[in-house]
Amino acid sequence: MTTVSEEQVWEVLKGIKFPGMSRDIVSFGFVDSVDATAERVHVDLAINTGNPEAAETVRADVERALTELGPVQVEVSLKVSLPPSAAQQVSQAPDLIPQVQHVVAVASGKGGVGKSTVATNLAIRLGQLGHRVGLLDADIYGPSLPTMFGIDEQPKVVDNRLMPFEKYGIKLMSLGFILAADQPVIWRGPMVMKAIEQMLGDVEWGPLDFMIVDLPPGTGDAQLTISQRVPLAGAVIVTTPQDVALIDARKGLAMFQKVNVPVIGIIENMSGFACPHCGEVTDIFKTGGGARTAELLGCPFLGAVPLDPAIMQGGDSGVPVVAASPDGPHAESFKQLAEAVVAGVGKDQRPKLSIF
Ligand SMILES: Nc1ncnc2c1ncn2[C@@H]1O[C@H](COP(=O)(O)OP(=O)(O)OP(=O)(O)O)[C@@H](O)[C@H]1O
Ligand SMILES: [Mg+2]
Repeated sequence: MTTVSEEQVWEVLKGIKFPGMSRDIVSFGFVDSVDATAERVHVDLAINTGNPEAAETVRADVERALTELGPVQVEVSLKVSLPPSAAQQVSQAPDLIPQVQHVVAVASGKGGVGKSTVATNLAIRLGQLGHRVGLLDADIYGPSLPTMFGIDEQPKVVDNRLMPFEKYGIKLMSLGFILAADQPVIWRGPMVMKAIEQMLGDVEWGPLDFMIVDLPPGTGDAQLTISQRVPLAGAVIVTTPQDVALIDARKGLAMFQKVNVPVIGIIENMSGFACPHCGEVTDIFKTGGGARTAELLGCPFLGAVPLDPAIMQGGDSGVPVVAASPDGPHAESFKQLAEAVVAGVGKDQRPKLSIF
């Protein structure tokens, strides 16, 4: 008996474009659920559009494509809703960073796992490799770039454009440069969106080969804004070796897969403790969980970064390890990561943003 797996169904759905658009219906988030049993494939489409005929075309395309999978009964349900005005504005807004070639998000499901540390050292390393690099701190709730780069000034404004800082060979912007350090930030969804849009579109980034985006933990408004407003080349997921962090990493990964952003891979941070005296690595938490999770989820494992006082001090003192000693042992894992990111984004042109 022929059976069709849910993975096969998702693959088929990823090949179906919204009429007139370059992006597929999965990346638009139009597929609500997929259910496949031995006899039956059921797909729920929930399409947000002002063009119901186009939604009907999508339904017919899905039905046709799934029927070709094999002799199973295919059911496709369709719910069409008008886009809410904010979403409409987003989808009609222009490309905010047309001069940026590859945008890579650094994300995690859980807080405090070392996203900012990884994003910072990755960005500096890419700069050392000769790329033009920008680092955007999209963690508007707890920006950490001012500390990590030791910058305690306000950015300059020229012709109504914010000038990014330049340090260790890369360009930087963070809301932390603008807000007072002790100012509590209470953001609601639309404000998060606006703040991130401004840090993309109102900053004079200039032409860049890579923009690294340091995301806040979890899967909230900032992540949504970035994936809607920026053509992401891929995401790097940071995790620590404990099971609880790994469960969250899986959620982060699932979020990017849902919006069809390629996951470049998983990096396991604080993986074993590197003794500052003898250099020997002791596994404080478990080890190897990142590699296992990557294998389980079918995405590349990009390496392990040990828990190392030099890495922590680098971040706290404003001189990240990769800048302090580019060829030192502490920088090694970040160098590998940078190479994996360059390889991971490939030579493709930037993905197109959706306009519908
Ligand atoms: N490999 C490491 N070895 C030692 N200390 C580390 C390592 N990675 C990160 N740290 C330290 O752990 C703390 C948290 O790291 P970081 O701020 O990069 O995490 P984060 O995931 O960005 O956190 P948040 O979720 O709050 O944004 C920092 O003090 C940092 O210096
Ligand atoms: Mg952070």
